[in-house]
Amino acid sequence: MASVPSLASTLQQQLADALTAALPDAGAADPLLRRSDRADFQANGILALAKKLKGNPRELAAQVTAALPAGGLIKDIEVSGPGFLNVTLTDRAIVETLAARAADDEGRLGVPLKDDAGTTVIDYAQPNVAKEMHVGHLRSAVIGDAVVKILEFTGENVVRRHHIGDWGTQFGMLIQYLIEHPGALKHEGGASDGEAAMSTLNRVYKESRVLFDSDEEFKARSRDRVVALQAGDAETLELWHRFVDESKIYFHSVFDKLDMEIDDPDIVGESGYNDMLEETCRILEETGVAVRSEGALCVFFDDVKGPDGNKVPLIVKKTNGGYGYAATDLSAVRNRVQDLKADTLLYVVDARQSLHFRMVFETARRAGWLSDDVKAVQLAFGTVLGKDGKPFKTREGETVRLEDLLDEAVARATAVVRDKADKVGLSEEEIVENGRYVGIGAVKYADLSTSAVRDYKFDLDQMVALHGDTSVYLQYAYARIQSILRKAGDAVPAAHPELELAPAERALGLHLDQFGEVLAEVGAGYEPHKLAAYLYQLASHLTTFYDQCQVLSPDNAPEVVENRLFLVELTARTLHRGMALLGIRTPERL
Ligand code: ARG
Repeated sequence: MASVPSLASTLQQQLADALTAALPDAGAADPLLRRSDRADFQANGILALAKKLKGNPRELAAQVTAALPAGGLIKDIEVSGPGFLNVTLTDRAIVETLAARAADDEGRLGVPLKDDAGTTVIDYAQPNVAKEMHVGHLRSAVIGDAVVKILEFTGENVVRRHHIGDWGTQFGMLIQYLIEHPGALKHEGGASDGEAAMSTLNRVYKESRVLFDSDEEFKARSRDRVVALQAGDAETLELWHRFVDESKIYFHSVFDKLDMEIDDPDIVGESGYNDMLEETCRILEETGVAVRSEGALCVFFDDVKGPDGNKVPLIVKKTNGGYGYAATDLSAVRNRVQDLKADTLLYVVDARQSLHFRMVFETARRAGWLSDDVKAVQLAFGTVLGKDGKPFKTREGETVRLEDLLDEAVARATAVVRDKADKVGLSEEEIVENGRYVGIGAVKYADLSTSAVRDYKFDLDQMVALHGDTSVYLQYAYARIQSILRKAGDAVPAAHPELELAPAERALGLHLDQFGEVLAEVGAGYEPHKLAAYLYQLASHLTTFYDQCQVLSPDNAPEVVENRLFLVELTARTLHRGMALLGIRTPERL
């Protein structure tokens, strides 16, 4: 047995059936079930239904109650207020459902696969060749990676695309520089030394830029080099490849640091669509979607205007014949829909590019490349701010290098881990490993726990704090359970549905049961922050549970110990799974 219906969905079904039995003519009716403070659940749907049928809500509620099946699910049901139903479940039903979840041998904790799975092509983690990664690239990578994992868990077929910036006029300059300074890309670091690769690329970028800006002849040679590149000249392409390959070494080193897997075949950068650009433009022009304007090929929109009131077009082909970002993205849409068979196109990209995507999607719809069956969504994210609330910069006003930031997070986290290491008995090796997991987890969690569109402050002190809504708090919750399980000796986790539950046990149990529903919602709306909130609440329920219920107390009957071990173990598995879906590790000892 794999998938286990949640208590809420079983109750929802029973109430819906009872509604139909009480009102055979009303058609399918939604009881509108919600979690409630007064009981476990409240059904609010009867009120509206009674109003619609001009009946008495309290009477209808009583009829529904009478039509509910006998059986183990409901302990208590009462009509309250003008016609709400308050429902309390039996302890037995809670423990039995959780036991079924725990018994899921596929490791899915009973969470069902969705039945409308399709193919999502997700565009995320898209740094630019020969350029350093910064905090903006962090967000796309972290959010994208979590969304990929969550969607895959719900059963969606996911195709990853890293749309790296690997094409454009700046390559003329870079390649020309390399031709004139053949050793420029050589460095002392080994073949997988990302940092050495980047600092070399950086130097080449800066030096060639200085030359480009100061030397008219070099500038002219660079322009010719762009033409050669676009014409597919073999030597030029080979040199271009060297920039791409060196950059990939660097990207991989940063993604490794981020504890994130990026596969080469999924790196399909802007250049990957070169062959399609001409056709894309031809189709747009032939169908009249794009028109010539001042020599450029443009698409206009009624509602996109500049400050002067004139329409601002999406430029698909520039006056000089060059193709830009838009032509590439439109070609990528065609590829993803027609060849990769996407039902959904998802773009994890900075909110500052929202207008671009709005215009690209609209153009693709006009051209028929996006039909009503295909959804195109930008999962837009906000800006990372410094402690001062302004876009995150170094003291010198430069953008912050992503690697420096990650290194600092790991250093801080390692200090936190080291502080407690003696008590837990961690080896130096474990301190270093946990420091990484805690530091990187802290950075990811801070990013994922606020809704993506909002800006957030990059505040390391807050991120590695042991209390509050941080990943460290969740990681400690997990490690503490593992420590209890180790201390349990001969006592093993086992569900005992016959026991009466304490209030804190019920609250924990009911929250555990919601995992699948939360994931379905998180996947449908691309909202990892709701998973983070769920996990934080889970850890908070666990804290209350510890306060009120001792697990290994000698005063407990053996079956109480077993049942509590069962509850905390399922909590640990849920934390572990949930954190893994966010891309965050849960060390066994901390
Ligand atoms: N490379 C771009 C940047 O650094 C992001 C690419 C986003 N994806 C896309 N299909 N345009 O801003």
